Amino acid sequence: MLPVWNRNPAFTITRASHVVLTARDLDASAHFYTDVIGLVLTERDENTLYFRGLEEAAHHSLVIKRTTGDAQAERIGLRVQDASDIDKAAEYLNSRGIVTTEPDVPFQGRTLHFTDPVGNLMELCSSMDVVDRRMQEFHTFRSGQPQRIDHYQLVTHDVQTATDFYSDLGFRLAEYTATDGTEELWGSWLEVKGNTHDIVFTNGTGPRLHHFAYTVPDASCLIHAADVAGSLGFGDEIDRGPGRHGLSNALFLYLRDPDGHRVELFNTHYQFIDLETDPIRWDTSDPRRAQQWGMPASERWWFEASEFPGQPVQKPLLEASPITLESYLSVH
Ligand SMILES: [Fe+2]
Repeated sequence: MLPVWNRNPAFTITRASHVVLTARDLDASAHFYTDVIGLVLTERDENTLYFRGLEEAAHHSLVIKRTTGDAQAERIGLRVQDASDIDKAAEYLNSRGIVTTEPDVPFQGRTLHFTDPVGNLMELCSSMDVVDRRMQEFHTFRSGQPQRIDHYQLVTHDVQTATDFYSDLGFRLAEYTATDGTEELWGSWLEVKGNTHDIVFTNGTGPRLHHFAYTVPDASCLIHAADVAGSLGFGDEIDRGPGRHGLSNALFLYLRDPDGHRVELFNTHYQFIDLETDPIRWDTSDPRRAQQWGMPASERWWFEASEFPGQPVQKPLLEASPITLESYLSVH
């Protein structure tokens, strides 16, 4: 069922902002994200790494914290317009029975934590320390030359509930996949910043973070990132691509970091602002939604993702078997 978009939500979310992960070896993470991906390491201390993209003026879009346990996804960050939105968000969420806390988070202004109805651990952030943009320091650009964080894909057992919740927070449906011949949602691509998605929900065992994504300047950066990954010994960690999605029309490359977290580099997607344009619908049986050419994604890409601490995963409500590389090759 298509969601009802709330154009006047209780508070204003402006964009996907940052992701917080845990990792077992910070030196390995620092090497991967600076040398293989090309992010800027803004700051590090004994237990934390803070990264940003080349054009970002915000202090961080990726935080990696040391853990001695399993590496997990700790928080999904969204920016709100200003500090007053933190109060409005707390009031709205509390009125729906959602518990909120307001922790002090380094390098961030007022910040609100909550767990969304499908179990994702979320963080609303009202401001961040400002640092210099590196977008014209071309001599420092490395590997994929990631410019800015763009979106997250979250695996959830209940796409409908997740889609309805974020639609009421002002997210607009840009594209979706549905069971053939129905409007039964298998995946939803939801945006607030004017292109096709800030958050994606796909049907599967969740809550889990499937990937977070950075934009790159052009397609050649994806090829160069793949070459750099290969030359630095991370060739096997290219999880999928290069290729072109049907959904959102982006060229993409996915890599796994030393702890198995998945990061996407992509050449951005199209504008989605005008109100008269309807969301694009794809049948789940249509392989061109996932890739316009080339082989389907591997089982590893479809089924492996990062869990959240203390959040038990649930089996999906919809039965769906994506076309994987392994299943494709078994019949071709
Ligand atoms: Fe993506």
